[in-house]
Amino acid sequence: MTAKKFFVSFIIFLYLNTNVLGQSGCPTTYSNTAIKANVISTAAGSVDSCCALCQQNSACAAYKWNSTSGGTCFLLDDYQPLYVSNGETVGVTTPSSANAYVLTKSYDSSNWLNDDTFSYANSNGDFTVYVDKNTATSKGLVKTQNGKVYVGMDNTTVLPWNDTSVKGRDAVRLNSISTYNAGLFILNLDHMPTGPGVLTEFWMSGPNWPNEGEIDILQGPANKNFNTITLHTDEGCTMQVSDNIYFTGSWEIQNNKPGANCWNNAPGQYAYAGCGIEAPNNTFNTGFNQAGGGVFAMEWNREKFIRIWNFVQPNVPADIVQNNPSPNPATWGMPTAYFTIGPNCTADHFQTQTMTLMVDLCPSWGYFPGGACECHNHASFAPYEYSEAYWLINYLKVFCKNGQNCISS
Ligand SMILES: *[C@@H]1O[C@H](CO)[C@@H](O)[C@H](O)[C@H]1NC(C)=O
Ligand SMILES: *[C@@H]1O[C@H](CO)[C@@H](O)[C@H](O)[C@H]1NC(C)=O
Ligand SMILES: *[C@@H]1O[C@H](CO)[C@@H](O)[C@H](O)[C@H]1NC(C)=O
Ligand SMILES: *[C@@H]1O[C@H](CO)[C@@H](O)[C@H](O)[C@H]1NC(C)=O
Ligand SMILES: *[C@@H]1O[C@H](CO)[C@@H](O)[C@H](O)[C@H]1NC(C)=O
Repeated sequence: MTAKKFFVSFIIFLYLNTNVLGQSGCPTTYSNTAIKANVISTAAGSVDSCCALCQQNSACAAYKWNSTSGGTCFLLDDYQPLYVSNGETVGVTTPSSANAYVLTKSYDSSNWLNDDTFSYANSNGDFTVYVDKNTATSKGLVKTQNGKVYVGMDNTTVLPWNDTSVKGRDAVRLNSISTYNAGLFILNLDHMPTGPGVLTEFWMSGPNWPNEGEIDILQGPANKNFNTITLHTDEGCTMQVSDNIYFTGSWEIQNNKPGANCWNNAPGQYAYAGCGIEAPNNTFNTGFNQAGGGVFAMEWNREKFIRIWNFVQPNVPADIVQNNPSPNPATWGMPTAYFTIGPNCTADHFQTQTMTLMVDLCPSWGYFPGGACECHNHASFAPYEYSEAYWLINYLKVFCKNGQNCISS
């Protein structure tokens, strides 16, 4: 073999070798973790041999390894849901391009104020008056600054005590003009609204509420240091309490038991409470802001699951930090909340979701020391207490699976 031929073959060998070993790879492994999925096949081997075996099998989405028979790779047909399992290790492959997410829509400082992004609710909340777009921009309640989007609440007006026509403090409630039927939704924030009696919400809902479902990604009053992630549906959408092994939050307790029935009128649960999962403490409100913000991500796989991550800085995954146009949630670890879609909650419970970003004041169900009257005192007479009642948004992005249009309108 001439030197040149050798060199060419060597390059081809290198190319094939990287292609086999590095083609899609298993970028993420989790120790002391397993996946609830079907085993396609098993093979004796060390943990390091499992990834290549998985890649050679087109049906393999992930592998699990444990010490059975001195070491065994179990090839799995799915990469989720994860759960804690001592002594076991899992690895997930990079999805094929057909299964990867692609950036479909970005709402950010370059287009936030365009007419085709959001509609501005022109209505009243509990003690807020949602202003139209002209009022919001002229009062500086919605503006862009340094490549970010600011959405705030009036913090200068003292409301008159004796004028019953005043329905609350000026604020903004945005509804996305596009609606969605699946996808990956990433809200990247530096700051979320807080203040006395403030209720902060980022959620999605379908028409004919609650028949087409509601997904509350971020919701909680200012006196709570954790987020409550909730689904609301019509009858026939029930979660298993034991599914709490698939997420890091905990079921909201309703009438002394976990409220895992998403039906708004579920017997034995609070009225209109739905099925809620509480995120860990200090991941919300002031704790979130003091950490410099973070990311709320929701992945809606129509046939299988709705799962949500509540990331606080500096724990935002690398592919989000790096603005990867094709982020892979399988590399993000166990979600904060996981809801199973399947026979006990069929996909048709969630349709045509509009995204809503809003704040409210003094909601009837949000605890406030001194009650509603004291809440209204703050909200009316202490505008300066609402200087932290603003969103500072890096972006809101929607990703659809490659080749699938997850935008319904
Ligand atoms: C290894 O995984 C198999 C298949 O899930 C399971 O039956 C077995 O109990 C596991 N063994 C250990 C030691 O975890
Ligand atoms: C409210 O009280 C102020 C004086 O305290 C008075 O000037 C104003 O006219 C009153 N407004 C109404 C609507 O009664
Ligand atoms: C979260 O904080 C509250 C007080 O705000 C406390 O009562 C509760 O026990 C904490 N929960 C956990 C899981 O640490
Ligand atoms: C559906 O509910 C039944 C009865 O509660 C339960 O046994 C089953 O495991 C559930 N299925 C899923 C996929 O959660
Ligand atoms: C209103 O809130 C903004 C945003 O936090 C702040 O920059 C401004 O100083 C506040 N204005 C007053 C009068 O407190």
